[in-house]
Amino acid sequence: MAIDYRERIPNNVALSENRRLQRALESWQPNYMRWWHGLGPEGTQDYEVYLRTAISVETDGWANFGYVKMPDYRWGIFLAKPQEQRAIAFGEHRGEPAWHEVPGEYRSTLRRLIVTQGDTEPASVEQQRHLGDTCPSLYDLRNLFQINVEEGRHLWAMVYLLHAYFGRDGREEADAMLERHSGDADRPRILGAFNERTPHWLSYFMFTYFTDRDGKYQLASLAESSFDPLARTCQFMLTEEAHHMFVGETGIMRMVQRTCEVMHALHTDDPERVRAAGAIDLPTLQRFINFHYSVSLDLFGQERSTNAATYFTTGLKGRYHETRIDDDHCLVDATWPVYLPKDGTIVCEQQPALLAINERLRDDYIADCQRGLNRWNKVIETHGIDFTLTLPHRGFNRRIGAFDGVHVSPTGEILSDHAWARQWRAWLPTDEDHAFVASLMQPVTAPGKMAAWIAPPARGIHGKPLDYAYVKFP
Ligand SMILES: [Fe+2]
Ligand SMILES: [Fe+2]
Repeated sequence: MAIDYRERIPNNVALSENRRLQRALESWQPNYMRWWHGLGPEGTQDYEVYLRTAISVETDGWANFGYVKMPDYRWGIFLAKPQEQRAIAFGEHRGEPAWHEVPGEYRSTLRRLIVTQGDTEPASVEQQRHLGDTCPSLYDLRNLFQINVEEGRHLWAMVYLLHAYFGRDGREEADAMLERHSGDADRPRILGAFNERTPHWLSYFMFTYFTDRDGKYQLASLAESSFDPLARTCQFMLTEEAHHMFVGETGIMRMVQRTCEVMHALHTDDPERVRAAGAIDLPTLQRFINFHYSVSLDLFGQERSTNAATYFTTGLKGRYHETRIDDDHCLVDATWPVYLPKDGTIVCEQQPALLAINERLRDDYIADCQRGLNRWNKVIETHGIDFTLTLPHRGFNRRIGAFDGVHVSPTGEILSDHAWARQWRAWLPTDEDHAFVASLMQPVTAPGKMAAWIAPPARGIHGKPLDYAYVKFP
């Protein structure tokens, strides 16, 4: 399972033994590079970045760090080790051997799942391409680029599956991945959150905390798939994803920390005074949490979904940690509580668990999101400040599912149009909020220096000091 870096496309799937596939991927590679140069991190072609590169898919596989010019990063195809005699863990094929080829009857559904996941990966690179101009530190700039190259690799991961298992339509889908673009009026990315702008570093940290975490849950349920190559691809992607969420969680923590230091020093909880001192006030951070959390909740889809039920029953997509769940793994008679708007209030109803697969995954996600808030609130508490960051109600600001078109307050009351219009500015980022945050975004590129709106990280990368030159400019 060692990764072969002598190949034009590094891989641990014995690509050289399949000449046809190798040639097909090698002819996609220049298109990918063209996309990276055109829509990847802007103006960075000659930067030398202290990046990690996977040298194996074992637990010590991330031990390799060194300076790389990003266009020279070795994007490749890495699958987790096969599990011997893996059996299908759920659905109507439970107990049968996992599939190593795509069953004909599931071909188009599986392709759709892979395309939808794959499309998000280059989308986030496109969304983040201007952030390098305003980095708060070299440490953060390096982390941004690390995430960008890994999202590029995630695209490779999905394109490999499309090329290797879906023939001609797979190759066409792989091409289309480079033709849709985030926010493009004619050919947007597939999912809404991936067409939103990531205009500044506050949005970026929120995105990596909340939206990359959706990625974690989608990948984790695809990692349960009966289609073994997909499962193994996603298992390895999850190890990369963990770093993205770390960047989000610690990024927000450092902003909270800085804000609390300013509040403490000035003896104030007046947002205007905090802003005047160059930090981001806590109510503004809360509004950004509300926004990014709610658009990320939408990514889980409808509360009741026959598609999700079919993915589960046919064994294409499982639940989070499927094999650790103690039940029949078929959900024949099981129910699951689902929140729905009804007659002007929100009720919690038991629904068939099969139909509520999306909702269950959303529940897992919500619990996971809360853990970060608890840590950030600890920071606020240790500064003796009376303020608690909260997750808004799951029905707040939704565009997909039962809450679409229903105005829900952060605390879960259904509101009239009028009441919503009067209050939403307290709950979601306004143009003024964006303008204020944007005004703070001045690049800081001296080693060890930090923008005034964010505290330094607790430690550097891979044992290096904080004032290490994580990025070198030409
Ligand atoms: Fe990703
Ligand atoms: Fe990610």
